[in-house]
Amino acid sequence: MAKNILVIPGDGIGPEIVSQAVRVIDALSSSGGLDVSLEYADLGGEAYDRTGHPLPDSTLSMAKSCDAILFGAAGGPKWDVLPRALRPETALLRLRRELDLFANLRPAILFPALASSSSLKSEIVAGLDIMIIRELTGGIYFGEPRGVETLDSGRRRGFNTLVYYDDEISRIAHVAFKIARQRASRVCSIDKANVLETTEFWREVVTEVGGGYPDVELSHMLVDNAAMQLVRNPKQFDVIVTTNMFGDILSDISAMLTGSIGMLPSASLDSNQKGLYEPVHGTAPDIAGQDMANPLATILSLAMLLRYTFLEDGLADMVEQAVERVIERGLRTPDIYFEGAEKVGTKRMGDEVLNELQQLLN
Ligand code: IPM
Ligand code: MG
Repeated sequence: MAKNILVIPGDGIGPEIVSQAVRVIDALSSSGGLDVSLEYADLGGEAYDRTGHPLPDSTLSMAKSCDAILFGAAGGPKWDVLPRALRPETALLRLRRELDLFANLRPAILFPALASSSSLKSEIVAGLDIMIIRELTGGIYFGEPRGVETLDSGRRRGFNTLVYYDDEISRIAHVAFKIARQRASRVCSIDKANVLETTEFWREVVTEVGGGYPDVELSHMLVDNAAMQLVRNPKQFDVIVTTNMFGDILSDISAMLTGSIGMLPSASLDSNQKGLYEPVHGTAPDIAGQDMANPLATILSLAMLLRYTFLEDGLADMVEQAVERVIERGLRTPDIYFEGAEKVGTKRMGDEVLNELQQLLN
């Protein structure tokens, strides 16, 4: 039976990069390798402008019924002035939560040909391959109570709550240990156990779950040290598992180790491997519509979709190889450009990935 992908281009550069990934889907479909149908929906600022809400009901119900979601990005300065409930970011957070997409996988892999694009010395990052697993539907992002209030004294107070239930911690820990088994079998859990009770509890629960995976080496690290270790010696890590907010921060650090956030894909999975797949970078409104954006993170997100939701490892490998070949040939969008390389735009990058893919498919 045909599987169904919901495509949500979103705002800023979202539509241009997503359309390059859709061309890859079309190529895989017409080669007979993939039986898939596509539907489209709106989410974010443009959705708000059109419908008055950044997450229209129709988008939410389509998102609930599809097999997988391919998403571009949402947000932009134009919508930052809206009340929080109507902002594009809130729509994305609500979608993650409504679909229970608790496991956010953010691989940071350095393509050898991009080692010189990293801000770190190439020997420190060459061969880098880290998987950050970020808890995505709990923690301080969603904890109650939250808000800003004015006390009788006239003093004002802002507050958020860092809360984790044992089952929320154990399910993300299981994901981390299972993924580690397919890699170098090492998990580093990151917390702030020396200060925050919630994350001391996190450490305790991850350790309990780890008891069921004696073949996987478990270590713990405090988040400040982890931030330092990621730029000092990032290759010491295999799988990192951490809370929602620490994962948000650490995944941007690891993204930069690889030379450009424009290269990094992500998957947000529920407990049935249904997922939302999106590039880690945002909407880049400054370059939107100029054929400058790097479509590779979105194409690599599609590869993750093929691997994790459709269980099509062979097709996923092919898409990743096509991207790698294009990079090796020296084609570069502006974000990863350096002297001597060939500077190309979004569409041309898409063309070249398709050419390479076609050769791999034949
Ligand atoms: C991310 C982003 C989001 C987050 C924002 C846009 C809400 O930074 O996916 O990392 O903080 O989760
Ligand atoms: Mg972030």
